[in-house]
Amino acid sequence: MRSSSVEARVEALLAKMTLAEKIGQLWQGHQATSANLEKIRRGEVGSLLNVKAEDMLTCQRAAIEESRLGIPLIIGRDVIHGFHTVAPIPLGQAASFNPSTVRQGARMAAREAAAAGIHWTFTPMVDIARDPRWGRIAESLGEDPYLASILGAAMVRGFQGTDDATPRREGVPPGWENLSEPDSIAACVKHYVGYGAAEGGRDYNTTLIPESELRNVYLPPFLACIEAGAATLMSAFNDLNGIPTSGNVRTLRTILKEEWGFEGFVVSDWASIEEMIAHGYCEDHREAAFKAMRAGVDMEMYSPCYPDHLAALIESGEVPLGWLDDATRRILRVKFHLGLFDRDPATAINPQVSLSEDHRRIAYQSAVESCVLLKNDGLLPLGDRETIALIGPLADAPADQLGCWVPDGRAEDTTTVRTALEKRLGKAKVRFAPGLDYSNQTGQDGFSAALAAAREADKLLVVVGESAWLSGEAHSRAYLELPGSQQALIEALAGLGKPLAVVVMAGRPLVMNRWAAQVNAILWAWHPGTEGGAAIVDLIYGDQSPSGRLPVSFPETVGQVPIYYNKRNTGRPPREGQSGLPIGTPLDPCDFTSRYLDADFHPAYTFGYGLTYTTFVFSPVILSSDEMKPGSTLEARVTITNSGKRAGIAVPQLYLRDRSASLTRPVGELKGFQRIEIAPGESGDVVFEINEDHLRFYNEENQAVVEPGEFHLWIGADARCLLDSPVVFQLKF
Ligand code: NOJ
Repeated sequence: MRSSSVEARVEALLAKMTLAEKIGQLWQGHQATSANLEKIRRGEVGSLLNVKAEDMLTCQRAAIEESRLGIPLIIGRDVIHGFHTVAPIPLGQAASFNPSTVRQGARMAAREAAAAGIHWTFTPMVDIARDPRWGRIAESLGEDPYLASILGAAMVRGFQGTDDATPRREGVPPGWENLSEPDSIAACVKHYVGYGAAEGGRDYNTTLIPESELRNVYLPPFLACIEAGAATLMSAFNDLNGIPTSGNVRTLRTILKEEWGFEGFVVSDWASIEEMIAHGYCEDHREAAFKAMRAGVDMEMYSPCYPDHLAALIESGEVPLGWLDDATRRILRVKFHLGLFDRDPATAINPQVSLSEDHRRIAYQSAVESCVLLKNDGLLPLGDRETIALIGPLADAPADQLGCWVPDGRAEDTTTVRTALEKRLGKAKVRFAPGLDYSNQTGQDGFSAALAAAREADKLLVVVGESAWLSGEAHSRAYLELPGSQQALIEALAGLGKPLAVVVMAGRPLVMNRWAAQVNAILWAWHPGTEGGAAIVDLIYGDQSPSGRLPVSFPETVGQVPIYYNKRNTGRPPREGQSGLPIGTPLDPCDFTSRYLDADFHPAYTFGYGLTYTTFVFSPVILSSDEMKPGSTLEARVTITNSGKRAGIAVPQLYLRDRSASLTRPVGELKGFQRIEIAPGESGDVVFEINEDHLRFYNEENQAVVEPGEFHLWIGADARCLLDSPVVFQLKF
């Protein structure tokens, strides 16, 4: 659906454009170099990315006032999980299982970025990530397509300023209604598609994904974001089944543009058009330009294939003019909807918006909800009276706790655990000795000071993990233990026999099997952002209750990877209790099931898992009927009772399994979740509605089908509920 007035303006402008000006719209340059400024004046640039704040107006004025047609630039930036005020990394935000909090985080980022003259963010990243070795898991929303769909869509709405109550506007694509508001920026859903499935978790690596699996697992979050109105989409770096994603006709032109009817534009990832030469898919820049245009990549980020070769390709007839016009239209359409033709660029700039009290509150709440309590033998929450030894390289590391991809986050604006703890207890009650200067430091020079501080204290709070640079793009890891000497530090401290709580700040799941048993509590804080320290201290002292749940499985050892809850069953699923190396005759204990001899087949902590300071008891599930007919709805109901002594937030999760289908289906798939606060001794009822949509999947012919037969259903506190007996219903046609 297109706005007739915008479309008329697009057509009128298109009619005036020369071939060179159209090609110019299709190119995105990097920063305000003098060469780029010259190109802008000549109408050869449609967009810039990563422009310095002080250059923003100069560039836009050059485009509007000095180019022949005065077409404004669309200025893009990686505003990934905040701008000046930084929320937790996206993987941390996903742990909130709270679309409203995630939306708020994106709104906050949009307001601050828009006030700095930015029109477009390269977020959300909804690549399904099942491999913690992959550094970009930090930027992802985890391993589950449903969770990533809900939260990705929430981010899109946050950036583009809409919500469920936004009235539809005649002729405006759904989700674009508020794009022209001064505090909205266009979202860019990325990296299309399959990028997170990089072999071995090594960034940029090859991916092999059958189309049915693409459609069942990797594509749904993209579709959800497009349906929420994402105005743009980024093609990825990876080779997908032998065809690089930035030259992939099937995924871009056929599925995205034709099947889904996407009306925005596609930008390539950084030089990913040019990189099709290295992939071995194109001989040179000219062929790369042709193949990217053929696939439907509308804008080229950074590399020069389009500007250098499109004119000749059009002249020779290899690239039809229709492709160029379509790409230009799409880019102009987004620019018009953003209101870029109708605003004075200078009025946007308002640095006052950043780091407001309101924004700090949003970042704080997001950090509170992102932390996951993995272990607690009763040590937490701490009481205010004791002296605390605060140890560990992440306890006072203001830049590192912001995490990866924060070009605009500033260390000096950040509250660390140390700052917050000293504020709460007073400096006299805090003995601070980091033990290590940074997370991957080896050696033990700082241990004696840390042990001395620990000896003087009643209880120990150790903040370890990964420095920000150990996750993110091109930062994959082959070892998943705590880096450097951190494990030795924990072991040395545990040797003192004092109560010991560990907070982990990291961009990915890590392996804890060597030390988890030696400590009393583990709070997983990801990289928690600007207000992370305040949030962690309030959680540790019980002013807030932990409510985060894992959006990704935590392996027991790297050898289990990839390990994710929504796996297929195999013909030989292992049975509970099967583990251990063979003794005696080699064949007996092996039992010929799908497992490891030397590691469990369960993860250390499963998807959806997280403790709080109380306990919840789930009643058996009551299903409104054990039969479902097409078009009808079932209701699944549980009562959750808070059986502990403190209020807490339960996060009931609905899982479904198609027991037998024309294509094997996962052992369980998340299809709903809620957050519900329950007072001690009280109960809350939770109802999930189930309809045919929840049962649909793509079959071998890539058709969306619902097949009759037996379905299993669980409502539980985490994916371990899939080990319990299911509630069964039949779908009957
Ligand atoms: C490369 C990254 O893959 C992408 O996510 C990012 O948005 C662009 N560079 C622009 O910085």
